[in-house]
Amino acid sequence: MNLPSSTSGTMKVPRGRPPLPVIIVTLCALAFIALIYTETINFLSPRSIFKLKSCSRKNAARKSNDKTAENNVDDSIVDDRFEFDPEECNVANGKWVFNRSIKPSYSDRSCPYLDRQVSCVKNGRPDSDYRHWEWQPEDCTLPRFNPLLALKKLRGKRLLFVGDSLQRGQWQSFVCMVESIIPEDKKSMRRGRSLSVFRAEEYNATIEFYWAPFLVESNSDLHIIGDPKQRILKVDSVSKHAKHWLGVDILVFNSYVWWMSGLTLKTLWGSFANGEEGYEVLDTPVAYRIGLKTWANWVDSTVNPNKTRVFFTTMSPTHTRSKDWNNTNGIKCFNETKPVMKKKHWGTGSDRGMMSVVSSVVKKMKVPVSFINITQISEYRIDAHASVYTETGGKLLTDEQKADPLHHADCIHWCLPGVPDTWNQIFLAHL
Ligand SMILES: *[C@@H]1O[C@H](CO)[C@@H](O)[C@H](O)[C@H]1NC(C)=O
Ligand SMILES: *[C@@H]1O[C@H](CO)[C@@H](O)[C@H](O)[C@H]1NC(C)=O
Ligand SMILES: *[C@@H]1O[C@H](CO)[C@@H](O)[C@H](O)[C@H]1NC(C)=O
Ligand SMILES: *[C@@H]1O[C@H](CO)[C@@H](O)[C@H](O)[C@H]1NC(C)=O
Ligand SMILES: *[C@@H]1O[C@H](CO)[C@@H](O)[C@H](O)[C@H]1NC(C)=O
Ligand SMILES: *[C@@H]1O[C@H](CO)[C@@H](O)[C@H](O)[C@H]1NC(C)=O
Repeated sequence: MNLPSSTSGTMKVPRGRPPLPVIIVTLCALAFIALIYTETINFLSPRSIFKLKSCSRKNAARKSNDKTAENNVDDSIVDDRFEFDPEECNVANGKWVFNRSIKPSYSDRSCPYLDRQVSCVKNGRPDSDYRHWEWQPEDCTLPRFNPLLALKKLRGKRLLFVGDSLQRGQWQSFVCMVESIIPEDKKSMRRGRSLSVFRAEEYNATIEFYWAPFLVESNSDLHIIGDPKQRILKVDSVSKHAKHWLGVDILVFNSYVWWMSGLTLKTLWGSFANGEEGYEVLDTPVAYRIGLKTWANWVDSTVNPNKTRVFFTTMSPTHTRSKDWNNTNGIKCFNETKPVMKKKHWGTGSDRGMMSVVSSVVKKMKVPVSFINITQISEYRIDAHASVYTETGGKLLTDEQKADPLHHADCIHWCLPGVPDTWNQIFLAHL
């Protein structure tokens, strides 16, 4: 669907005092425009929130031991996790380093599982520098993503990514990084509308994705409603989705950008006997807190932390406002070919208030949840979004659309291979 931006961009007028700065609202609107037209009937890609915390030097050493010992890793891996000292190295503190000899382990031609939405090279992206940046934490060495090690860690297990289209991107990145070492007849992929499953037979492992852009239920899950004003969230209901999360060994959740369609959201709770009547309009952070609390209660009452590990990928930054990085003549992230180099750069597309809602909900949980904290490292990467090298409504952007980046550049989703590969590198280091 290619909604005219006027529809999707119209913001709801907040009642009373605006809870968020107007600028954020504008951004949200722009972000949402991009979101809506890059989503077909599909899903928003999920972004994962990982705890980017730690990799101490000690730990880094252990990791490289794992690599060399990868043929007899199985037992040592288990120990590794407990050796991990999250306090010693903050993975989010570091810099992107350009190195042309670093090559992604897959391409959008070699990996058959990538959606066209993120296949930037196939879609005509001419520049390639964005594929040769490596994230280097200041205080430790982040081990490279080792596909064999990843598969060994997943032996006999189900790994499930749950969330939106950014999370779907992380899932596809993970699958593409491991699939090339699996022989053709020992792997399979089944794509479904809500659940997709990649299977690695020899490892009896699955790497799965479940579409639930708000985690909680809404009237816009499978049949996406383009106009955010028509969406209604059932903030206290999660079981319809969560029944698909049972028995999973490693759960990775995310949810952020779908909440950011405006200052307020229509929400329902209690009985739904009235259909969609009787909703309440809540400020976005309030609705987000209630929705996440519902998710947290499900995790705490259902997940056995001795059997299942739970991760949460923090918000994936949107780069729809080039003033954030002082490119006053820029059009969103269009034509950007270099990361922002200014340390701790943080744009208006990452809402710290929403981040603190997530932290405070997670802090109170019984089941430990590790953050994959991708926000800061991804904030720098204004160069790595799909931009105009993407699709809309199931079709590649036309030349006319490409020539109109203000309305058509997607500065939310990431090219693959690309930044989500680093998210998974961090994820694997913490697994
Ligand atoms: C670039 O990457 C290659 C391959 O990983 C490595 O051998 C080389 O030392 C790196 N160069 C720099 C300047 O870091
Ligand atoms: C394969 O993994 C599943 C869990 O994902 C487990 O229930 C089953 O017993 C495993 N099968 C074999 C043959 O190891
Ligand atoms: C998890 O393991 C610990 C230690 O073995 C045990 O005390 C606890 O009851 C277990 N929890 C659950 C939910 O099984
Ligand atoms: C943009 O300019 C402001 C004011 O000069 C400066 O403080 C900020 O660091 C700059 N941001 C970037 C990303 O260069
Ligand atoms: C985009 O970059 C190309 C090459 O640097 C340049 O020729 C073109 O004018 C730029 N377009 C815009 C709209 O900035
Ligand atoms: C993620 O990292 C940023 C800084 O890089 C920090 O401000 C934020 O609190 C972290 N988020 C969580 C949920 O830990």
